Amino acid sequence: MSDDNARPAADARPDDHVIVLFGATGDLARRKLLPGLFHLARAGLLPARYRIVGSAPAQFALTDEEFRRHARQAVQEFGLSAPDGTAWHAFEAALSFGAADPEDPRPLLDAVRHAEQALGGEPRRLCHLAVPPDAFRSVIAMLGDSGLAERARVIVEKPFGTDLASARALNNAVHAVFGEDRVFRIDHFLGKESVDNILALRFANGLFEPVWNRYHISHVQIDVPETIGIEGRAQFFEQTGTYRDMIVTHLFQLLGFVAMEPPTSLAAKPLRDETAKVFEALEPIDIAQVVRGQYTGYRQEPGVDPASQTETFVALRAMVDNWRWAGVPFHLRSGKSMGQRRQVVTLHFRKPPLRMFPNSLVGPHAQRRNALVIDFDDPGWISVRFLAKEPGPAMDLGAAEMTFRYADSFRSRHGLEGYERLLLDAMLGNQSLFTRSDGIERLWEISAPLLDNPPPVQPYPQGSWGPEAIRDQIAPHHWYLPDGHQG
Ligand code: BG6
Repeated sequence: MSDDNARPAADARPDDHVIVLFGATGDLARRKLLPGLFHLARAGLLPARYRIVGSAPAQFALTDEEFRRHARQAVQEFGLSAPDGTAWHAFEAALSFGAADPEDPRPLLDAVRHAEQALGGEPRRLCHLAVPPDAFRSVIAMLGDSGLAERARVIVEKPFGTDLASARALNNAVHAVFGEDRVFRIDHFLGKESVDNILALRFANGLFEPVWNRYHISHVQIDVPETIGIEGRAQFFEQTGTYRDMIVTHLFQLLGFVAMEPPTSLAAKPLRDETAKVFEALEPIDIAQVVRGQYTGYRQEPGVDPASQTETFVALRAMVDNWRWAGVPFHLRSGKSMGQRRQVVTLHFRKPPLRMFPNSLVGPHAQRRNALVIDFDDPGWISVRFLAKEPGPAMDLGAAEMTFRYADSFRSRHGLEGYERLLLDAMLGNQSLFTRSDGIERLWEISAPLLDNPPPVQPYPQGSWGPEAIRDQIAPHHWYLPDGHQG
């Protein structure tokens, strides 16, 4: 797709494809990718002709039959629709498996050749690398050496590197095989309908954009508490931690959408130029403004170091030093085993003088009623929180809100999860919602003070909102969640 075009049409169908799923027996493929591909197939959004080849190292090799059974179980357990009927049979028939080790990719090459022969012609290839970060480079090199990279686009999972040096090395390794126009660094938060809707909300409505700046907004919160723990992912989590797993990836990418200047169009280049400028303006992380937490019991999880300093929680203040946002703190928070699962952006507006309303809510309460809340957990909603006059002869102010809910609107057209949407975009060659090498490198660059000098982790009870220290860290503001929790 050329950058002159904006987004593909709603009914755009990708060219014929062979999709190669590296890590096909892993957790991500089971929870998201296989169910997501089946949902796309059922919705008629996969190419007219496609094959899906699962791959994994030889020690995890499956037969085609075993892979189909694996996919059926995955769809049964995690899919939006059950694996049955003609749609399932057609999908299942398109699945095959080919093991690959860097030194011996032959079974995979054979499986891809068969799949391509079945389709005829020269279908495109989409290689999805759902593999641990330390395997990215060897798989990329194997794609180059074996010729699989020809006609291929590549989807690379997060986290992309672990610091600036490793991200640069990974970008170099990727670019040795693929031009940037064929690289799709995936961040599934950007595929969420409500996140994309931030662009519509801001740039399609004269109501919001004029107040979207430091003159009207006092602070912004991007809050992603999770109730789940590490779900048996000790090995991954011990190496990664919440900063690398959630903040430098999902939350900063969201910040890019919330803070960007209006792009000239929604095509990939102008859109990603604008997020890159936001990241350029981000100040290096000030470690005095970071709280790292660890839930009690984490060190007893199987596979976790009993003296682990890995954080399962981060709260921090980020500053965007540009004309729109100078002086407006962005408070970011995410953690495991917390009190609630939420995915919320809140823009708090400056408080007007309230002298003429002596009976108004005062102090922070008034400010909390003066906010725009965007809940981007699927299906998502947006709410304006404001003060209104209570009925009666006196001029008393009460809390009021206006809420738009995706679940009650546009029902038939809202149906793709983040991963599904992004897999489809990658097949269509649309890079708008994928991250770019310069943006990623800049985020690692501003992270260096924290990565080099992480403050010690502070314990927090499971089911809580994080360590006590987060209250001081956010003062004079407060942690806010839309349904009443205040911290
Ligand atoms: C993933 C992280 O990228 O995102 C997980 O690795 C996290 O740790 C998950 O739980 C949250 O995403 P979702 O799909 O629940 O919005």
